[in-house]
Amino acid sequence: MPRQSILIARAISSEVVDFLRQHFDVHTNQDDVVWSPEELAQQLQGKDGVLTTGSQSINAALLAACPQLKVVSNMAVGYNNFDVPAMTAAGVQGTNAPDVLTETTADFGFALLMATARRVTESEHYLRAGLWKEWRYDLFAGSEVHGSTLGIIGMGRIGQGIAKRGAHGFGMKVVYHNRSRLTPELEAECKASYVSKEELLKTADHVVLVLPFTPENRHTIGAAELAQMKPTATLINIARGGIVDDAALAQALRAKTIAAAGLDVFEGEPAVHPDLLTVPNVVLTPHIASATMTTRRAMAQLAADNLVAVLGGQAPRTPVNQ
Ligand code: DGY
Repeated sequence: MPRQSILIARAISSEVVDFLRQHFDVHTNQDDVVWSPEELAQQLQGKDGVLTTGSQSINAALLAACPQLKVVSNMAVGYNNFDVPAMTAAGVQGTNAPDVLTETTADFGFALLMATARRVTESEHYLRAGLWKEWRYDLFAGSEVHGSTLGIIGMGRIGQGIAKRGAHGFGMKVVYHNRSRLTPELEAECKASYVSKEELLKTADHVVLVLPFTPENRHTIGAAELAQMKPTATLINIARGGIVDDAALAQALRAKTIAAAGLDVFEGEPAVHPDLLTVPNVVLTPHIASATMTTRRAMAQLAADNLVAVLGGQAPRTPVNQ
């Protein structure tokens, strides 16, 4: 029987590629280029499975062009790049890579929160530009992190990780909003209280977004929500671009309706709304919340394990459709 054939759509750790070579005929993206949908469909001809990274769109048109495809394994916890009903209709198993990145991503959420509250990048740019001439009483005075109120929208595993860091490490009062309420045990573990979105926006000193992107969640934070926040508040988005209306946010930052923002994700990334690039009170990072080599390797290995399971006729560890 011929070996099954898979495609690894972007460059990943060589150990994981070698592991996959033990099981399959493996095709890679040698130059790690970003393929267009047409090029991806071309590369997928005759492939039984593909390891994707979250930036490749898996939709009905692609599935129709790749009838041999049986599994798409996303090396990301988010899978808003999948049209799950279309995959199910085409009999294609989708899988994602949750859990292994939870703590690393929560660490980064906190790093961005602290850099934003304490104006780390803004003050560094000032220093590098040679503008620092003397100590000044209010030079880059930021907002408190310890003892402040942390508001988390989206209380999945990563949201809970951020809550624990805030409550246990920084003595923050934690409030959260989520589709469903956590169990009393989990609320106690996270020292977090459930509130409405309105209450959270009005009371939090730091609002962190960790919810998945769905069409219903588009622009969860727009002009109206930004207007409800405290003028001293910060907004952190490590979830997905599109959850925030970036144009409205840039306007709020310029008008100082809120104090500052920290953004790791953008609507239409890698493009960034041009207005965000010209306001000083925003920390911008290129979608790196899960980027440590240990975690990226663990994500790639989980994605690889899922491919091996599905193409070997077994249930994957982390399916997104059944
Ligand atoms: C995820 O896992 O969804 C991240 O955003 C991709 O790095």
